[in-house]
Amino acid sequence: MQSTELGFEKPLAALGVTQAEQITARFAGLRAHFDGQFQTVHAESEWKLFRDRWLGRKSGVLALVTDNWLRPSTPELKRAVGAALNDLRSYVESQIESRRLAIESGADQSALAHEHVDLSLPGVTRPIGSHHLIRQVFQEIEDIFVSIGFSVVEGPEIETPYYNFEALNIPEFHPVRDDMDTFYLDLPKGAPTPLLLRTHTSPMQIRTMEKRKPPVRVIVPGKVYRRDNPDATHSFIFHQVEGLAVDADITFCDFTGTIEYFVKQFFGPGVKTRFRPSYFPFTEPSVEFDVSCIFCGGSGTAASGGTCSKCKGAGWIELFGAGMVDPAVYGFVNYDPKKVSGFAFGMGIDRLAMLKYQIDDIQVFFQNDVRFLRQFP
Ligand code: PHE
Repeated sequence: MQSTELGFEKPLAALGVTQAEQITARFAGLRAHFDGQFQTVHAESEWKLFRDRWLGRKSGVLALVTDNWLRPSTPELKRAVGAALNDLRSYVESQIESRRLAIESGADQSALAHEHVDLSLPGVTRPIGSHHLIRQVFQEIEDIFVSIGFSVVEGPEIETPYYNFEALNIPEFHPVRDDMDTFYLDLPKGAPTPLLLRTHTSPMQIRTMEKRKPPVRVIVPGKVYRRDNPDATHSFIFHQVEGLAVDADITFCDFTGTIEYFVKQFFGPGVKTRFRPSYFPFTEPSVEFDVSCIFCGGSGTAASGGTCSKCKGAGWIELFGAGMVDPAVYGFVNYDPKKVSGFAFGMGIDRLAMLKYQIDDIQVFFQNDVRFLRQFP
């Protein structure tokens, strides 16, 4: 039924209502209309609209009935209209209130269902992370050297040319700087010294000897940077462990014995080591250490019968550079070269890790692909 048919916009007289019975019929029509609409009210938003439609102060149905039917009624009809209106009002109010309670408790029910915790369900498993393979290899190497009396120190990745070169006996126009020409920082004009990303961990030899008196036995794990083009064996960032031992009577024998001990611990007791003459400005003599090929057992022949592709048939694989500390270096740190001697080495960790774990591309260390990383839990 449309509200126009219900007639509450007009006075009763205009509707031709003059008898009490007609009034009863009019209010019965309103109640039926209310019941019809009320059935469809379930959501809270619908309920609010519905409440305002019926109980709104200014233009709610009951307000209009009061204005249009009750107020202008003749005194004879006013009692009957007032009584019927009161009945209707209490009916409408109680219906609307009870629906409000129903809606609220329904909402509570669904909130409860939402928060319900089923303790019998399996828990959430959080995956446990692990150290990057490079970090693991650092740790292995640190453990080996710590077990023979070395301590671990770390140093800055941003260095001055003094520590990266000069104090290591590499003067400004020395040709080995070509290899190590590196990343310089853009500094404001007038900066006291240029700064660069260290090209090796060797600057820590100097920093350590400046701070400590002999005996010194340290290793220095860390990142280093070079202007290398990336390929399977080169990266502009890689990792080294520097070693330095200086004392009153350290000999070449201590040196090679220490390295041999380390290499056997790291690669296994079956490997052999050898050294070849080499050159570094800060060691004299300088050597390059090799390990017997861990892929072909040093035979140079692959299991398939052909030439071993890893050592190219040589049976040896180049490991790292080292040497006895050049006496000139002691001059930079106020050690007396007549009283002390020592050795130093600098190994590339990425290379050692690649050999030990048979990885053929250095780039995988920096790509952080979890499919790679997960293989080394
Ligand atoms: N710093 C050298 C390099 O990075 C390695 C090295 C360290 C050689 C210590 C001798 C002694 O190539």
